[in-house]
Amino acid sequence: MALAPTVKLNDGNEIPQFGLGTWPMKDDQIADVIPQAAEQGYRLIDTAVNYGNEVGVGRGIRAAGIPREELFVTTKVPGRHHGYDATKRSLEESLERMQLDYVDLYLIHWPNPKEDKYVATWRAFVDLQKEGKVRSIGVSNFKAAHLDRLRDETGVLPSVNQIQLYPSVSQIDASAYNEQLGIAVESWSPLGRGANAKYYGGDESYLDIPLLREVAAKYGKTTGQIVLRWHVQQGLIPLPKSSNVERLTANIAVFDFSLEDSDMQRISSLDDGRAEVANSDERQEF
Ligand code: A2P
Repeated sequence: MALAPTVKLNDGNEIPQFGLGTWPMKDDQIADVIPQAAEQGYRLIDTAVNYGNEVGVGRGIRAAGIPREELFVTTKVPGRHHGYDATKRSLEESLERMQLDYVDLYLIHWPNPKEDKYVATWRAFVDLQKEGKVRSIGVSNFKAAHLDRLRDETGVLPSVNQIQLYPSVSQIDASAYNEQLGIAVESWSPLGRGANAKYYGGDESYLDIPLLREVAAKYGKTTGQIVLRWHVQQGLIPLPKSSNVERLTANIAVFDFSLEDSDMQRISSLDDGRAEVANSDERQEF
């Protein structure tokens, strides 16, 4: 079992370049899955207040028996807790639910720009980092204009932006802008399917499309591995969710082969100009 390589963030911390998505697993399920994932080399665990499973994540972490400093735990503040004081309280509650002293990465889950509280939320993040309760701070579903405001009004840029990203929604402009600002990009719903298909209008049979099958046959890999390799080969940090031990195992086994440039381009050609399904200028989540 090999661990995923790490990526250096703009604050000097290191993040594993592959993680376990936990939505929509409930407490009992995720508590079972984390030890299995840890055994397969997963060290980054991605949860959120709004996933409703932080208690199970904490139980899973303790059951996995991995030293705390070798794990990388992420959670996210929900829209209903935006604002300086509410954010600080929210983090305390998350730590209490997970029974942790700190998280490795704290994200603003959605910008909710119509509420216009994400800058105040960010100021709390900056202070929480100084207090040592969170190691790195970042955002999720933030567009260029939202990032610009954080930089202009606080002088502190996020270390990470977690956005919906898979070959058909490849977010080329957003990725390039984040890269230009030195912000690492995490891909949510990196396989573009499954439970998220129903919820966010994705494709149930995404991993069956002929082009992916063809490339998978060429390399003797699964289509899931081909898509996940496409992420890591461009420096993205994918967070696939699986509750099945075979898929968990296969998904992370993407660091021992590479795709030829021409195949990277063929997979990227699946981008059909589709916008992300959750447009965060419009969609607000609480
Ligand atoms: P399961 O938990 O049964 O494995 P995404 O992370 O893009 O949202 O996709 C998650 C969905 O894809 C889940 O429904 C998960 O179901 C399924 N899934 C995860 N890995 C694979 C894979 N390698 N092949 C097919 N389906 C997968």
